[in-house]
Amino acid sequence: MIPLDILIMAAGKGTRMKSRIPKVLQRLAGRPLLAHVLDQARALQARRAVVITGHGAIEVEAAVDRLAGAEDAFDLKFVRQEPQLGTGHAVQQAVPALAGDGTVLVLSGDVPLTRADTLRALVAASEAEPGGALALLTVVLPDPTGYGRILRNGAGAVQGIVEHKDASEAQRAIPEVYSGILAVPAARLAPWLAALRNDNAQGEYYLTDIVAMAVQDGVPVRAHRITEALQVEGVNSPLQLAQLERAHQRRQAEALMEQGVRLADPARFDLRDDPRSGQRAALLCGQDVEIDINGVFTGQVELGDGVQVGANCCIANVRIAAGAVIHPYTHIDGEQLGATVGEGALVGPFARLRPGAQLGRAVHIGNFVEVKNSTLADGAKANHLAYLGDATVGERVNYGAGSITANYDGANKHRTVIEADVHVGSNCVLVAPVTLGAGATVGGGSTITKDLAPGSLGVARGKQLTIAHWQRPAKQPKA
Ligand code: UD1
Ligand code: CA
Repeated sequence: MIPLDILIMAAGKGTRMKSRIPKVLQRLAGRPLLAHVLDQARALQARRAVVITGHGAIEVEAAVDRLAGAEDAFDLKFVRQEPQLGTGHAVQQAVPALAGDGTVLVLSGDVPLTRADTLRALVAASEAEPGGALALLTVVLPDPTGYGRILRNGAGAVQGIVEHKDASEAQRAIPEVYSGILAVPAARLAPWLAALRNDNAQGEYYLTDIVAMAVQDGVPVRAHRITEALQVEGVNSPLQLAQLERAHQRRQAEALMEQGVRLADPARFDLRDDPRSGQRAALLCGQDVEIDINGVFTGQVELGDGVQVGANCCIANVRIAAGAVIHPYTHIDGEQLGATVGEGALVGPFARLRPGAQLGRAVHIGNFVEVKNSTLADGAKANHLAYLGDATVGERVNYGAGSITANYDGANKHRTVIEADVHVGSNCVLVAPVTLGAGATVGGGSTITKDLAPGSLGVARGKQLTIAHWQRPAKQPKA
C-alpha cells in the first residue's frame, strides 16, 4: 500500500461571498465546508492532511484544529501561502510538508460534495501505473465557462490543461473540464512545480501547467471522468452555497426514502450536522416513518417504527420511540444531554422539549408546553400552556393548564417530585423543592410551597369573596 497524503487548498479569499468569514468556513448542512473535505481525508484513511492557508489563516487553522478530533488517524499540518500567487504556487509551498514516498491527492477546501468512491478511483488510477501516473478528475459540463479545459490529441490522450482566460475560441468549445482535483506521486511534483512560470493571462503560477510537463517527461496522464457535476462544484457565492446545500439535502432525502422513510416532499427536508458539537448528523429511522414538510433534523435523531412527524418541526438530538406522534410546529432539542420520547407518546402541536426531557409511554405533551430536565412516567399528561423543569412526574399524573414548576430561586435549581396519579389543577405554581405524594390533588390557582401527603388535597389561594348586586362603574354621559 502506498501511503496517501491529502493536500487541501484553502488560501483563497472568496471575494464573492462578501463575508467576514473565510470562504472555507462557510457552513454547509451546519458544518464548515472544510469539515466536509476533512471527512474525505478520513474516508480515504489518509496518512497526512496538509491544509494550505492564507486569507483568514489564523481563523481557518483554529477551526480545523477543532474539527480534526484527537481520534483522527491522519496527522494534520498547516502551510501558510502568503501572498497567494496561484494554485501552483500554493502546492509549491506545501511540498516541504509532504513526505516523498506517498501519493498526493490535491483537494479544494471549497468543494464539499465529492464522493469518497470517486476519490478512491482517482487515487487508484494514479497508482495503477508503474512509478505512478498524474491522474486528473474531469467532468463534462453543459457550460464550461471559467474552468480549465482538458486538451487531448487525436488519439484521445491528455496533452495539457488550458485555463479559460488563456484559451482560444476553439479551446473554449471543449466541454471537458478539470475539476481542481488530482492525484500524483509526491516524488514527481517538486521538479515540475519548480519549473512553473506565471506568463499567462492571470499572472499566476498555475498548478494545471504540470500536465504538459508530465506529458513531456513521458509520465502517464490519466483523466478520470465522472458525470455528476455536483461532486466537483465549488462555492464562490451565497447562491452557489445554497444550491449545494439543496443538492446535499436532496441526496440525504433520497437515501432515507430508499430505506422506506416517507417524506412528504424531499425538497422540503433538512438534516443538519450539529454546529455545536461538530458531529455529523445521523437520522436513524425504523419502518413506516412519516415526515411531513419542512422538518429540520439536527445531530443524532432516532425515530422508531411508525413515528409520525408533522409539518414544520425542528428536531435535534432525541430518541423517539415507536408509534409516537410529533404534531406540527414542535421544537425538540436534546442538545448534549439528549432527550427521549416514549412509545405512543403525543407531542405538540407547538410543544417544546429541551435537554433531559424524558417522556415515558403514551405521555401527552400539548400546545405551548415546555419540558426541561424532567422525567414523565407512562401515561402522564400536560396538555396546555405549562412548564415542567427539573421535575420527576409519576405515572398517570394530570398536570393542569397554565401550571408551572418554580424550579429556580434566583441562585439554585431545585426539584419538584409529583408522584403517581397526582392531579394538579389549572394555573398552579409548584415552588421547588416540593413533593406531591401519590394520588394528591392540587386545587386550581394554588401556589404550593409545602409537601402534600399522599391522597391529600392542597389548596393555597385567596378565598372567594362574593358581593351581591354589585354595580359596575358606568360611563359618564357626555356634557
Ligand atoms: C482552478 C483550476 C482550473 C479548474 C478549476 C476548478 C488552476 C490554475 N486552475 O481554477 O483548471 O477548472 O480550479 O474549480 O489551478 N488557492 C490557493 N492559493 C492560490 C490560489 C488558489 O490556495 O494562490 C486555492 C483556492 O482557495 C481554491 C483553489 O485553490 O480553494 C482553487 O483556486 P481558484 O482560484 O478557485 O481556481 P480557479 O481559478 O477556479
Ligand atoms: Ca484563480
